[in-house]
Amino acid sequence: MSIKFNQVYYTYSPKTPFENEALKNINFEIKEGSFTCLVGHTGCGKSTLIQHLNGLLVPSSGEVVVDDYVNTKKNRKMRRKLRDLRKKVGLVFQFSENQLFEETVEDDIAFGPQNFGVKKEDAKLIAKETLKLVGLDESFLKKSPFDLSGGEKRRVAIAGVLALKPDVLVLDEPTAGLDPKGTKELLAMVKNLNDSGKTIILVTHDINIVYEYADNVIVMDNGEVVKIATPSELFSENVEKYSLETPMIQKVTNMCFAKGLKLDINKIKNLESLVDEIAKVRSK
Ligand SMILES: Nc1ncnc2c1ncn2[C@@H]1O[C@H](COP(=O)(O)OP(=O)(O)OP(=O)(O)O)[C@@H](O)[C@H]1O
Ligand SMILES: [Mg+2]
Repeated sequence: MSIKFNQVYYTYSPKTPFENEALKNINFEIKEGSFTCLVGHTGCGKSTLIQHLNGLLVPSSGEVVVDDYVNTKKNRKMRRKLRDLRKKVGLVFQFSENQLFEETVEDDIAFGPQNFGVKKEDAKLIAKETLKLVGLDESFLKKSPFDLSGGEKRRVAIAGVLALKPDVLVLDEPTAGLDPKGTKELLAMVKNLNDSGKTIILVTHDINIVYEYADNVIVMDNGEVVKIATPSELFSENVEKYSLETPMIQKVTNMCFAKGLKLDINKIKNLESLVDEIAKVRSK
């Protein structure tokens, strides 16, 4: 299922004193099964952009095509198919745990499928399966979501979205506020989902995550897409012009290059692979 933005503009509160053009002429395509990171400084339009993916926002002009669904102002007929789109594209908001509301984890995860007509007993089975996907065991099913840790709550919230079995999972800063262990576990889970075929679109301020996980990076600045590249293409440039930092691994790799170590940059994704690569070159 491909995703395409064609000349998308979006203006908040048009024709009022608060008018704000948040997206300007956005054009890109995301391939099925890919892992895309969306980056850019605060207020550049990332959250606005991703809300166009499941029809929460409709472009002021232009169109967003997700499979056979065309999200455009002109296409009112399509509004009826919005439920299909919401099932295909699961959107996990920042601090999604704030949206948990049921008495038990099981009820919270089962809520979405039931809303789409799945019988209660079947929805409970889905809740059980989905909980496993996010790395929590069955003992969590009967717990109150409010008694869980921050990281556990976030996993439950993600399970609530995954319970609808979306093909595309969009996550808005999913690691914000998590400790390093929680961050690592959550990313491993997202990577697993990607490996099993789901298209991932992840908004993040953490450039090290981009370096390690993304196939593609979309860089935004002031409502516009200013660069689309693979992480190695992007970070081989000076990224300060996009208000981004150079990832730690890239900095260390650059230092190794400066010392004459001929590392294969394509093999380096994280600290472990960097050390492996250094060991390989040193043993030659
Ligand atoms: N509901 C809203 N009404 C009016 N303006 C808004 C609204 N939401 C966002 N904006 C404005 O639109 C622009 C883009 O905001 P957006 O939330 O998409 O940025 P962002 O890249 O997600 O930022 P952050 O990294 O801080 O989450 C900003 O100027 C913001 O002030
Ligand atoms: Mg945002």
